[in-house]
Amino acid sequence: MKAFLYILAVVFAGDCVNSLFLPGRDYGQRSSASALSRFSRIRRLPRPTHRVINPEEDCFLVTSEEGELFFKSPSDDPVVCGIYMIAEPDKRIEVIFNYIDVPCENGGLVAWVDGWELNGQVWPADAWNDDRLVESCDRRPSRKLVSSQNAALVQYRVPARGKGFSVIIRHLKNTKPCNVMLFGAEGVYTLRNHGETGNCSMLAVSPATVHVLDLNIGVAIKKGRLLEMETGTIHHCTKRGLSDYVDIGGANGLDHTKMEVYDSVCGLDSNEARRPAFIACEDTVVRLVSSGRYHNSVTLAFAPLPLEDIEHADLMCGLNDL
Ligand SMILES: *[C@@H]1O[C@H](CO)[C@@H](O)[C@H](O)[C@H]1NC(C)=O
Repeated sequence: MKAFLYILAVVFAGDCVNSLFLPGRDYGQRSSASALSRFSRIRRLPRPTHRVINPEEDCFLVTSEEGELFFKSPSDDPVVCGIYMIAEPDKRIEVIFNYIDVPCENGGLVAWVDGWELNGQVWPADAWNDDRLVESCDRRPSRKLVSSQNAALVQYRVPARGKGFSVIIRHLKNTKPCNVMLFGAEGVYTLRNHGETGNCSMLAVSPATVHVLDLNIGVAIKKGRLLEMETGTIHHCTKRGLSDYVDIGGANGLDHTKMEVYDSVCGLDSNEARRPAFIACEDTVVRLVSSGRYHNSVTLAFAPLPLEDIEHADLMCGLNDL
């Protein structure tokens, strides 16, 4: 596996969420909670935007906008920065380098990641392969850069004053979203396997409450129609030898394959769960594991975890490490 341009942990020290760039606003003007909930409700118009990356403030830039971004290096320092792109759950992200004028000397580099990387962890981590990382310096990548899910990353290090690059970000339709990143944990989402084998996940980059509203996992067989029995919610599905299930839990970091599981459920249940799960982890994760024999779906309501509920959360990540 190729080496990543690990962004210095220093960039993320302190409260990341407060320092994120949110569309149409300046830094830290409001509380992060209201900024985040606003973020999740935004319906963007496809208007082209042009934005110049401010090297002072935007080293860790999160953007949900389409448009063109310019970067011009203010110094010869080998600082690593990132453009964290996110789109609606049913979108993919396309990046086109309009120009790259980044000398390869002194470690000058621009890298595309099909996913997000933070503190050495990548998302989505299952099915990682080297095709998901494209590095370049003095020329534009020869390949089309389109992400597999609604999040992607451009990392860059331009240790040459006055040099830089520009990227055009576009959001494309994704007819079969499997892995979905939620930025601002609020809303109702359905996670599906589209009848396929493998794992799909939903990751909210914050602590959250997760309420299962509708469950259809390991029941609707793909070929032939049987009467589908409402089984109710089944817990501990793997212990019962059932192949398809959904894990609800969290992780401290983006790698959801290292998630801590609070509950694991399957079955057919059109009634919502009695109560939501309170997940006090850096990231809230729902992971659907599918054998490929069934059409699986789970509908979930996410909401931010109220601060006062953290101490009696159902799951607190990292307690086992203490
Ligand atoms: C999907 O998840 C299961 C259970 O965690 C794991 O055994 C399997 O290897 C995963 N599949 C892929 C393609 O990552």
